[in-house]
Amino acid sequence: MAKRLPDRPLRPATQLVRGGQMRSGFDETAEALFLTSGFVYDSAEQAEATFLGQVQHYQYSRFGNPTVSMLEERLALLEGAEACRMTATGMAAVHASMLSHLKAGDRVVASRALFGSCHWIVSTLLPRYGIRTEFVDCGDLDQWKAALSTPAALVLLETPSNPMLELVDLAAVCDLAHRAGAIVVVDNVFATPLLQKPMQFGADVIVYSCTKHMDGQGRVLGGAVLGKKKWVDEVLQPFIRNTGPSLSPFNTWVILKGLETLHLRLPAMCRSAAAIADFLAERAEVARVLYPFRVDHPQQALAKAQMAAGGSLVTFDVKGGKEAAFRFMNALGIVDVSNNLGDSKSLATHPATTTHMRVGSEERAKLGITDGTIRLSVGLEDVADLVDDLAAALDSLTPSAPPKRRPAPVEPLAEPPVLAAPEPPAESAPRPKRSRPKAEPKGEAEVPPLLDLAGSLPDAPSRKH
Ligand SMILES: Cc1ncc(COP(=O)(O)O)c(C=O)c1O
Repeated sequence: MAKRLPDRPLRPATQLVRGGQMRSGFDETAEALFLTSGFVYDSAEQAEATFLGQVQHYQYSRFGNPTVSMLEERLALLEGAEACRMTATGMAAVHASMLSHLKAGDRVVASRALFGSCHWIVSTLLPRYGIRTEFVDCGDLDQWKAALSTPAALVLLETPSNPMLELVDLAAVCDLAHRAGAIVVVDNVFATPLLQKPMQFGADVIVYSCTKHMDGQGRVLGGAVLGKKKWVDEVLQPFIRNTGPSLSPFNTWVILKGLETLHLRLPAMCRSAAAIADFLAERAEVARVLYPFRVDHPQQALAKAQMAAGGSLVTFDVKGGKEAAFRFMNALGIVDVSNNLGDSKSLATHPATTTHMRVGSEERAKLGITDGTIRLSVGLEDVADLVDDLAAALDSLTPSAPPKRRPAPVEPLAEPPVLAAPEPPAESAPRPKRSRPKAEPKGEAEVPPLLDLAGSLPDAPSRKH
């Protein structure tokens, strides 16, 4: 069995490497991969007692699996949530969190700025089951107030949103939702648990696509739902057990290994994304750049109050619409054209013709997605190479301009970085709470204890405590 972790609070990097590990009788170093669909019992009596809930024993991997339990424990620790259940994909997590909670006659209020498939669930699937839905513009508090002035069962939102990087004021909307009787489900994919902890602003349920930054190397699909233990045990778990969107142990194991480096990968990606946003903003071919921590982002103050860094995604419009956007993307030599994100490889997406094609042109116009909009997921390549790649692709939009020669740089090998010794935890540091802290009033929210990026990202928010 693994050593019991110390009771004192552990920092995110340690949680990501150590959290949740259970060692088998073989004392393996790495997390064991229990690639098994079922489990055996010592006797028929033990099987019966297990099904009666009188003894704890794994039964069947659709209900639970030791490798999956390790990942659930690790993510719950990182999020500061009471419980977690893994699902086969991020969409299975969104679907399970909503369908397990809702019934015919319920009312859902959702942010208009949702990932395409989340939008489909709310606008197309739920109404088939007699669940009424209403969309609001995510940055408009008056619309949230109006929509939540009548009772609702559930609020679904995404912040920052895909692909326009719009933000929702988490503390204010959670407060309005709770007064309307709704639970708040936050899709925290773009921020990750290292940059934003929505439960600290009052959110009830957090969903992730682990396909993105958590795996981070483009290998497997996965999803997670986090919430209070009572809700997870009584509402979510019966739904997962009986409908079967369970995560495979193999994919779980890959995500466990991916998480071990998340605290190293994400700050590097955020630093490059911020630099690329600044680079793009200077280019004449670019009509607008959206990046939450840039001074020209309309919600920069809210971003800095809710997030530890601006994230790894940059959205921008090239002048010249779809034709220019396609020409730009086809001219990229390093960045790949893909609809995925959060990968170590930088990826460019044209939302209007891929991820957000099916929401329709009217809805895209409301969201601000134009035919020239490009979403860039910044990876782990050298940022100078990425800037060169983007610059060359932008140059190609003005063929009359003489091509700029870019001699291949021959650079000396960099000195290995000198790592600062970590500070020991303060004696008086509070133990991590398993229950959700109360939402603070708008603008007063405590900056959550996120990954300490202060040394590596210049714009990390200052802590109030
Ligand atoms: C914000 C957001 N939520 C949910 C999902 C769905 O995740 P998955 O592809 O793992 O089902 C995605 C996928 O791109 C996403 O971007």
